[in-house]
Amino acid sequence: MALVPVKRRRRAAAGPVLPEAAAGPGRFPGVVLCLVERGLGARRWALLAERARAAGFCLHSAGSAAVTHVVAEQCSAEEALAWLARRRGSATGSVPSAQTEPGTSTALLDLSWLLESLDAGRPLDVEPRHRLPVTSSETPSPAVPAYGCQRRTPLVHPNGVLTDALETLAQDAAFGGDERRSLAFTRAASVLKALPQRLGSIRELAALPGIGEHCRKVIQEVLEDGSSAEVEAVRRSEWYRTMQLFTGIFGVGTQTATCWYREGLRTLADLRAAGPRLSRQQQAGLRYWEDLATPVTLAEAEAIGELVRAEAWRILPGTTMTLVGGFRRGKPTGHDVDLLLSHPEEGKERALLGPLVTRLEQQGLLLYQQSQPNTFGLEPSSSTMDRFEHCFAIMCLALPGAGGPGTGRAVRVDLVVVPRGQFAFALLGWTGSRHFERELRRFAGRQCGLALSNHGLYDPQREMFLPATSEEEIFQLLGLDYVPPAERNA
Ligand code: UTP
Ligand code: MN
Repeated sequence: MALVPVKRRRRAAAGPVLPEAAAGPGRFPGVVLCLVERGLGARRWALLAERARAAGFCLHSAGSAAVTHVVAEQCSAEEALAWLARRRGSATGSVPSAQTEPGTSTALLDLSWLLESLDAGRPLDVEPRHRLPVTSSETPSPAVPAYGCQRRTPLVHPNGVLTDALETLAQDAAFGGDERRSLAFTRAASVLKALPQRLGSIRELAALPGIGEHCRKVIQEVLEDGSSAEVEAVRRSEWYRTMQLFTGIFGVGTQTATCWYREGLRTLADLRAAGPRLSRQQQAGLRYWEDLATPVTLAEAEAIGELVRAEAWRILPGTTMTLVGGFRRGKPTGHDVDLLLSHPEEGKERALLGPLVTRLEQQGLLLYQQSQPNTFGLEPSSSTMDRFEHCFAIMCLALPGAGGPGTGRAVRVDLVVVPRGQFAFALLGWTGSRHFERELRRFAGRQCGLALSNHGLYDPQREMFLPATSEEEIFQLLGLDYVPPAERNA
């Protein structure tokens, strides 16, 4: 990918400045917005300001005494006031005085109020849930941001019973082909995963974003009875159990599994006996099913990574190998091993995968493999998969004391070859979790007007890719606080 250098827009050192006189009164008398830049980042600030003005809102800077609605994100009321005071101090060159403090008529609001108002095309009445939380109160409610990529989500959290229940319903909806419904359950589960404490009562849900009526009912049931009748019924159902079994086979998606279920197939023995026309991939998935259903440990993943790296060096010295996926997020086990291969000199990586696969094959280390060339920038595709050169394989991991080649245990391995210029994006994309990635892309699109993929961050207005050499830079370009891999378990 040829990256076009971005000309960074020059901004006044003091931050965005709004010429109030030029701003006009706006379409809504009595409503003057001030957007707190802290927590938003310059890019999103500019984008939101533009949207608000286009919708007819009047925007003033922090120094203006006319401000009626202060809008902030990921911010307590105290933090917003402190930010305003600092801005007023620097704008006037003096210590903020009582006169410049926002009066009691000034509402301190969460960004959700502005986004909802923009959707409605008018300033909405302020509801309690719109107000910024006051942190000095007796019971501080954690302000949980709306997007999974704005939250820190550890691997281990205290609400597993609730999130397992919601994720069962998410999976069931996905099996039924209802992606929207599935996403609603996944989103609710993801919000609960970010809570530092166990959810004590249904009332606490009021402070949380994105928990719909159905989720609330399930949560209430689990809190009160220890389990949800609906969830238990799903878990017992033949449909759900069979779909779980079939979609757990390498190469089998929801559609194939649904067809097999409709044909009356229920077990692996049925599949083997009835012999539906299986793809080569599915045949391998069925043949090594038992090994592949056994979780891969971190030690096994690291051993495979090292083996691949050593073989890669024989072909292309300097090749870098990075273990990504769940292991990079701190998971002790996984369903596969995800490896990114790259080279410091862009272009050199193109000579790697073919010979590497041949070498691994010659040593009896590949039980199955399916390789694809890099197709980035070639034919358009509606697929959400990335276009890197890759080899999706089943490798044979030699067990200590085992015999010759082919006698080890089967492990699913993804080898992905990444040109250096796209490495930061591939690293971010392949680290997951899947929901974290989905939320990052949604955030980039909806909040920044940018298209994020495993290959880059595209600005459609300027028709260019915004370069980044680290994950930190990508978060910065999106105006997001950096979230380390261990806290991307959304
Ligand atoms: P995985 O499916 O391997 O999930 O995808 P995981 O988090 O490592 O979990 P386990 O332990 O193996 O089950 C890893 C990441 O790679 C991305 C996914 O979005 C996910 O975040 N990915 C996967 C891609 O970007 N492209 C792909 O073709 C496959
Ligand atoms: Mn994985």
